[in-house]
Amino acid sequence: MLPTIALTSLALLPTVQGTPSSSHGVYKRCGAVGQYYDQHQADWDTHNTQGWLDSWWTKNTALMHNNSLGFAGAFGQWAMGDPDWSCLEDGSSSGCELNTCDNPVLNNRGKDVRPAYYVLESVSRLNKYFGGVSSAFSTAGLDAALSKDSWATTFYEAKDQQSVVLLKEVLNGLGVTASTAAAAGAWAGAGGAAYSGAVTAAGLQIDPHADDPFQRSADLGGILGKIVIDSIESFTTANNQLMGGHEYNNEDIRSYLSHGAFIEFPGVDTNAVTDSMTAMLVGTSINQLYRAQKVFIMGGAACGDNQGIGSGPQDTSSYICRDGKAWYLYYWQENNVISTTSHQWGWVASPPGLSQLQQNEFSNIHLNVSHIINSSLDAFNVAGYNYTTATAQARTEDAITKGWAVPGAYGAAWEGIFTIPVCDVSAAIGSNINLKQFILQPYGHDSRPVWCGPICSGDAEKTKAFIDAANMGGFESPKRLCGQDPGY
Ligand SMILES: *[C@@H]1O[C@H](CO)[C@@H](O)[C@H](O)[C@H]1NC(C)=O
Ligand SMILES: *[C@@H]1O[C@H](CO)[C@@H](O)[C@H](O)[C@H]1NC(C)=O
Ligand SMILES: *[C@@H]1O[C@H](CO)[C@@H](O)[C@H](O)[C@H]1NC(C)=O
Ligand SMILES: *[C@@H]1O[C@H](CO)[C@@H](O)[C@H](O)[C@H]1NC(C)=O
Repeated sequence: MLPTIALTSLALLPTVQGTPSSSHGVYKRCGAVGQYYDQHQADWDTHNTQGWLDSWWTKNTALMHNNSLGFAGAFGQWAMGDPDWSCLEDGSSSGCELNTCDNPVLNNRGKDVRPAYYVLESVSRLNKYFGGVSSAFSTAGLDAALSKDSWATTFYEAKDQQSVVLLKEVLNGLGVTASTAAAAGAWAGAGGAAYSGAVTAAGLQIDPHADDPFQRSADLGGILGKIVIDSIESFTTANNQLMGGHEYNNEDIRSYLSHGAFIEFPGVDTNAVTDSMTAMLVGTSINQLYRAQKVFIMGGAACGDNQGIGSGPQDTSSYICRDGKAWYLYYWQENNVISTTSHQWGWVASPPGLSQLQQNEFSNIHLNVSHIINSSLDAFNVAGYNYTTATAQARTEDAITKGWAVPGAYGAAWEGIFTIPVCDVSAAIGSNINLKQFILQPYGHDSRPVWCGPICSGDAEKTKAFIDAANMGGFESPKRLCGQDPGY
C-alpha cells in the first residue's frame, strides 16, 4: 500500500541510544560478531543489508517453509543455531532474545556475520516495538476519563438528542488518531511500513464498532476502550504475521526493516505513548463535539490587545500568545430563556467542559487550551476549514516518514487533533469595518461580539467560510447591530 520511503530522519532518532562500548574490548569478548556491535541506522544501507536479506530470503524459502515458525525460526536457526527463535507474541516462552555473543554458528558465517547480526538486532527490536506499543495501549487512563455517563453532556450543551448522533461521528477520526499514537511509539525511526501497519491495525477497528449501542449509555470510554483493546490484538497479529514471514498490510518484514528503521530502536517509552494516545483520543472526541457547536478561535493581533478591535479574555485558561499573536478560544452561548433584553443574543464564554479538563477524572490527561489552539491553528494553516481525516492521515504519515515532526511528542497539540475554525482578525485593525471595536470581547454574560464586515483576513469569502464552519450560518447575533448586511 505504501512505498517504503527513504528515511532522512537520522537527526530525529530517539535520544536514548545504546551505551557506547569499546568495539575492541567487545570483539575480544564475543568473537567476530563483537566488532559489529554498537550499530547505527546508516550501517544498514552502507553495508547493503537489504540486498543481502533479499537474497537470503530467496535462497532460504525452503528453510522458512520447513520451520513451523516461518521466517524468524528459520533465520534463528540459520544465524544462531536456534530453530525455536519464534519472536511470536502468543504467550509461549520461546522469545526473541538475542544470543550472539560467542555464538559459534553466527561467528562462523564469515562475511555474512555483519548482515546476519544487523537482521537479528532489527527483528528483535521490531518485536519489542510491537510489544511496547501493545502495552502502551492500556485502557486505564481512558476508562477513568471517559467511562462516565455525563461524558457527552460535559462537552456538549444538548438542547436535543443530537449528542447520540454526534458520538457516532466521534468514531470517524479515532482510527487515524490511534494509529498516530501507535506509530509515535516508534518515534521518528519507524518508517513508512510501520506507520501504515499501525494505521491498518488501529483503523481496522472502526468498522466493527460502527453500530455499537451508543444509545444505551453514551459510554464513550467503553467504546474507546474496545477500540484500544482490539488495536492491541491487531498489533499482535501484525507481529506474528511478519515474524512468520507473511505479509501484513501487503508488506512483509523486509519493508519494516528497510533503511535500518529498527536497527538501533531503543524501545517504546510506554508511559509517554500511553499519555500521548489518551490525550489524542480524548482530544479527537472533544473536537467532534465542539465542531458541532458554536466553538471557534479568533485572534492574530498583538498579545495584550489594545489595537482598536476589542479585547479577548485575558487569562491563560482562555487564550495563548504564540509568536507574539494572541489567539482566543470562544463559545457563543445561546440564550436559553425567553428574553427581550440584549441577552436574547446570547454571549461569549468558555466552551462547554473546558474548565473541567483540569479536574477529577480528566486531571491526568495532558490537554488544555494551549493544545486546542495550537492543534487547530496548525490544521488551519495547512488546509483552512477543510482539514479532514484524510488530511490528518496524509500529514501524519508525511511527518513520520520524512521526519519533519514526531507527532506522538505533541500529544493533543498535534496538528488536526483539533480543527476548531480559526478567524484571523488582524486585518481588521486598519480597516473601516463598522463597530470594529467590538470584534473581540472578553467572556461574560454581557459580552456579545459585533461583526459587521469581512472580519476574517479582511476577506468576505473567508469570513463566510468561517461563519459556516463555526455553525453560525444564519445566526443573527453577531450582526444584530450592523446597519447593513455584513456579507455573511
Ligand atoms: C525441508 O524438509 C524436507 C522434508 O523433511 C527435507 O527433505 C528438506 O531437506 C528440508 N529443506 C531444508 C532447506 O531444510
Ligand atoms: C497546558 O499544558 C502545557 C503542556 O503540558 C503547559 O506547558 C501549559 O502551562 C498548560 N497551560 C495551562 C493554561 O494550563
Ligand atoms: C503551543 O505552541 C507554542 C509555540 O509553538 C509552544 O511554545 C507551546 O508549548 C505549545 N503548547 C503545547 C501544549 O504544545
Ligand atoms: C476549502 O474548500 C473550499 C470549498 O471546497 C475551497 O473553496 C477552499 O479553497 C478550500 N480551502 C483550502 C485552504 O483548501
